[in-house]
Amino acid sequence: MALPKGEIKLNKTFYVTTPIYYPSGKFHIGTAYTTIFADVLKTYKKINGYDARMLTGLDEHGQKIEGVAKQNGVTPQEYVDEKATEAKKLWKLLDVDYDDFIRTTEERHTEKVEKIFEKFLKNNDIYKGEYEGLYCTPCESFWTESQLIDGKCPDCQREVKKMKEEAYFFNMKKYVDKLLKFYDENPNFIEPISRKNEIINNFIKPGLEDLCVTRTTFDWGVKVKSDPKHVVYVWLDALTNYITSLGYMSDDDSLFKKYWPADVQLVGKDIIRFHAIYWPIFLIALDLPLPKKIYAHGWFMMKDGKMSKSKGNVIYPDSLVDRYGVDAVRYFLIRELPYGQDGIFTPEGFVDRYNYDLCNDLGNLLNRTIGMINKYFDGEVKDPKDYSNELSQGLNNDIDKYIKDMINHMDDLHLNFALSDIWNIISRTNKYIDETMPWVLYKEKKEDELKLVMSDLVESLRKIAILIYPFMKNTSKEILKQLGNDKYDIKFENIYNKRDFTLNKVVSKGEPIFVRLDPQEEIAYIKSKM
Ligand code: MSP
Repeated sequence: MALPKGEIKLNKTFYVTTPIYYPSGKFHIGTAYTTIFADVLKTYKKINGYDARMLTGLDEHGQKIEGVAKQNGVTPQEYVDEKATEAKKLWKLLDVDYDDFIRTTEERHTEKVEKIFEKFLKNNDIYKGEYEGLYCTPCESFWTESQLIDGKCPDCQREVKKMKEEAYFFNMKKYVDKLLKFYDENPNFIEPISRKNEIINNFIKPGLEDLCVTRTTFDWGVKVKSDPKHVVYVWLDALTNYITSLGYMSDDDSLFKKYWPADVQLVGKDIIRFHAIYWPIFLIALDLPLPKKIYAHGWFMMKDGKMSKSKGNVIYPDSLVDRYGVDAVRYFLIRELPYGQDGIFTPEGFVDRYNYDLCNDLGNLLNRTIGMINKYFDGEVKDPKDYSNELSQGLNNDIDKYIKDMINHMDDLHLNFALSDIWNIISRTNKYIDETMPWVLYKEKKEDELKLVMSDLVESLRKIAILIYPFMKNTSKEILKQLGNDKYDIKFENIYNKRDFTLNKVVSKGEPIFVRLDPQEEIAYIKSKM
């Protein structure tokens, strides 16, 4: 069966962004999720021949950060400097290969925010007024009475307080029609579609309010150049990071020209409003193209609800990586969160996935294969010459089908399903061993058939290694190494290549890639880290 070659487009660019994180605490698995998701997409595109770029960074301004720094007895700048080092270390630990890490306190960003603000003023997109509203300090958001839930902030459910101040406003109403037209013409702009309906029904239909874009009640932010007692509201400051990092409005804007508009902007469900309404409107006002897609993922929850320090139920990625390795953590996080919905982290779930998926399914397939080739052919994968065998064709047809499914799921951002597709290949290949019973073929000296089975197993594992690479880079390389392919160039298109017997020499029996965990012990360990 011929496979689609749709993904192989050389010299095409791909630009994916994560939100820039508030460095107000330690990063938990929820924050890690988006960043890993972005890295998986970027890596997938990269091995498909794209010139792929990923952006992440920190949102370092605002009242909240000012407050946390004070609590820690340091200046805001000292505080965010330390957090930036911490964040970069974490992304390295999680094998995240970002191309740029932007910090909103960097001059390359702040001076562009000043310029953008002045441009908006000049074009009458921003006007001066007075703001009186209900303010949620942790979220740095003003709300109207009708948006509150039980009198509290609809995002974080905390108390809001009445505040009044002179402020600048962005004239959102001016652009609403253009935004709605864009939504109409680009039905996949906001995904999942349910989020788009939410945005339209909850925020646009009731009448989009103009957005207050400055504050005078704190100091830690970009000052308005023409009126410096005002500090630019943290969301206007933050959202522009996606283009300032590419050199928008700077002397060298080649990256901006090359990568903008972004292909996918990833956000959590709580910040979709900012990305699906205000961000596109700012871009329309700047006369810039809009991103191709905003994808809002769900949240990692705990059994007892949201992760929160006060509940003592927060799980941090580094404590998992230290004990189980980065690939197991990346695998779990991506596999466990369904498209657009929330997922639950439980220590039991983590240990089960490790033992069943990684150890039993994948690890055993590799061990058995390597073991058999060593036993039957002294570690050499032999050319079977004759491929006309029904069981072999059955296996390969199924694998081709699962690869197609995986490609479709990657394109649709259903990364959890893409992993299930790969695991279908793993299960199917394990089943092939049961079907062909190589130990019987060996006993009965059916050497040609045995050669075919062994080469099928190696081929399947080679494909699996390429497919899992975006998700689990180390495991992928380790599998290829154990198959005797350590110099292998990981490119997606190699999946379609014919087997190359000079590459598939099994050198020796390698170490197991995942070792079975003792559930009781490990569940207790994970709980102790919460
Ligand atoms: N600074 C803003 C984003 C500005 S982007 C121009 C912000 N930062 S944040 O640190 O509070 O959140 C960053 C991201 O982490 C958000 O997309 C949020 O949805 C995500 N998550 C926070 N908790 C999460 C989970 N428990 N699970 C999954 N994602 C979660 O918002």
